[in-house]
Amino acid sequence: MVRDSIAAPVRLAQQAEKLDPARLAFRQDVWSGLTQDHKSIPPKYFYDQRGSELFEAITRTPEYYPTREELAILTDNAAAIAGYIPAGSAMIEFGSGSTAKARILLQAAQVAAYVPVDISGAFLTSEVQRLETDLPGLKVFPVAADFTRPFQLPAEIAQMPRVGFFPGSTLGNFEAHEATAFLRHAAKLLGPDARLIIGIDRVKEPDILHRAYNDSAGVTAAFNLNLLRRINRELDANFDLDGFCHYAFYNREHHRVEMHLVSRARQKVRIGGRAFEFRRGETIHTENSYKFTPELFRTIAQGAGWRQAAVWSQPDDAFSVYVLLSEEETYISD
Ligand code: AVJ
Repeated sequence: MVRDSIAAPVRLAQQAEKLDPARLAFRQDVWSGLTQDHKSIPPKYFYDQRGSELFEAITRTPEYYPTREELAILTDNAAAIAGYIPAGSAMIEFGSGSTAKARILLQAAQVAAYVPVDISGAFLTSEVQRLETDLPGLKVFPVAADFTRPFQLPAEIAQMPRVGFFPGSTLGNFEAHEATAFLRHAAKLLGPDARLIIGIDRVKEPDILHRAYNDSAGVTAAFNLNLLRRINRELDANFDLDGFCHYAFYNREHHRVEMHLVSRARQKVRIGGRAFEFRRGETIHTENSYKFTPELFRTIAQGAGWRQAAVWSQPDDAFSVYVLLSEEETYISD
């Protein structure tokens, strides 16, 4: 009798011990996301090794314009942007991925240290190795961390002026209040006189957005579905990958592209010892990618204590790169 009542918790505890803290957080986020009325999973979990590679493949599809636009803006205006990066600075990149964009600035400015922060530790390591070969003399201090949570900057950059780099319109993954919180935290982390170079995707024709998130080669679909593969592998789950399909559309009212995984049938899925039911046609909301008007972005940046110093676009105005200056005059370290 007594044994029966303690067996289940003990088994759960033993399982939990095998999971590292990141895995536990992942499982908790998946469990709670799938317990909501409208099921959802945070987009940061797309980026395991395979997911990071699939994202890089998305950026090479003809339909996904943001990366090409932003690379063109950075290349065409590298000298002007570098003018906002003081010599001897540390450049901290939030969600560094392939580091291709950072390289343009690292070559144009006199940066002393580069701190790529990325949630995918394995991907980060291989990028850092490539960077150290290509840019010998640059100090690189990688940080494998989820930048939506508090993390420590390397002690080596303590005395250097800091410039944040947040390209790709990744800010668009956040709800407005989360975007404000992130920008405030970034200001604190970067310290007094901080600068932030940030890439922002703009509101545009729904057709263009639709194509960008529904590429004809199906790379975005594979990227979206890889989330289920990852859950199966890391959280002991049994998603049938053929039982779900990719769905992305532009939600005009909320000026955001939404990505979902749609259940093709009524089904039950087991995830780390818990069962979840899906109706036919029910979706898991996997990502919002907000698009901004210049006015909306200015309001958000100002509300978080940043002032716009400069902005660049291509003639089509599809995407913008901003330099923001921290308004935080006095900074009390804590
Ligand atoms: C890396 C978050 C900016 O929202 O456009 C690309 C991710 N999702 N295609 C985006 C993504 C689907 C991308 N961000």
